[in-house]
Amino acid sequence: MKRILFIVAVLLILAGCIKIQKIELTSNSSISVNKILNITNINNPIVISHRGASKDNPEHSFAGYNQAIAEGTKFIEQDLRISADNILYVNHDLNLLRTTGINLDISKSTSNQIEKVKLPNGENIHPLSEIFEYYKKNIFYVIETKYEAKINYNMENKLIELIKTYDLQDFVIVQSFSLESLMYIHEQNPEIQLMLLLKAQNQEELTAIIKNTPKYIKIICFDLSTVNYTLVNLVKKTSRIPMAYTIENQEDLKKIIKYRLEGIFTDDTKGSIKLLQKNMGYLALPDPIL
Ligand code: G3P
Ligand code: CA
Repeated sequence: MKRILFIVAVLLILAGCIKIQKIELTSNSSISVNKILNITNINNPIVISHRGASKDNPEHSFAGYNQAIAEGTKFIEQDLRISADNILYVNHDLNLLRTTGINLDISKSTSNQIEKVKLPNGENIHPLSEIFEYYKKNIFYVIETKYEAKINYNMENKLIELIKTYDLQDFVIVQSFSLESLMYIHEQNPEIQLMLLLKAQNQEELTAIIKNTPKYIKIICFDLSTVNYTLVNLVKKTSRIPMAYTIENQEDLKKIIKYRLEGIFTDDTKGSIKLLQKNMGYLALPDPIL
């Protein structure tokens, strides 16, 4: 009898453990981008798929994003352009010639005109809303506000509106070369995480920019050609996260490891994750809310 009671007690304890484990798993799956930025470090860098898996697919296509996600990314990049009728499109260049063969400036065209243009794989030029609708809260978005002309905040206002509509504030990092753009976003919604992109400038200029960047901009992202220990340490000393763009090959990745960066934009998601796992004990980040 005593033995039976003992076995029952052990089974009950085990059942309790399983229950606790299940609860922990549930809470892990609701991670926000803010929490990820707090746990990111050199052993667990953020891997951002640059324009999707753009080596093998049209830039900013579902095919490219889906491949990058299958290869293990949790972060997909969107470059933003705004049409003449104020719709946000995901495209790197202002003009569609390079990626589609059609000579059309997004900013001078209406959504009716842009909808007719196809990527080489038959997909359309995706409005940001279509990307949000498709992936919802299953991925993190790293969205760049891009400019050819003077900033007028139309793009920022539309972006903030869309993030609100899809309730994606915890799933978005906004990146820009324009400090003005990031400061405006922060004024409208201080909860949105921000990344300042730095051009390839000289050491003195970069030092001054880093020192003068508001503390709420948590990520400073270098052009890979300018990265050095002094600049990376300056970013870390000011409690920010140093990242770099764009990894194209294994040599670039070695540089990331050497300078102990905490995030990268990469054209090779699979190769980047593989090398980071081997050299830095890269841990896959928890999934966002499913
Ligand atoms: O956004 C980071 C990196 O993508 C910046 O360069 O020209 O590829 O948008 P670009
Ligand atoms: Ca970009």
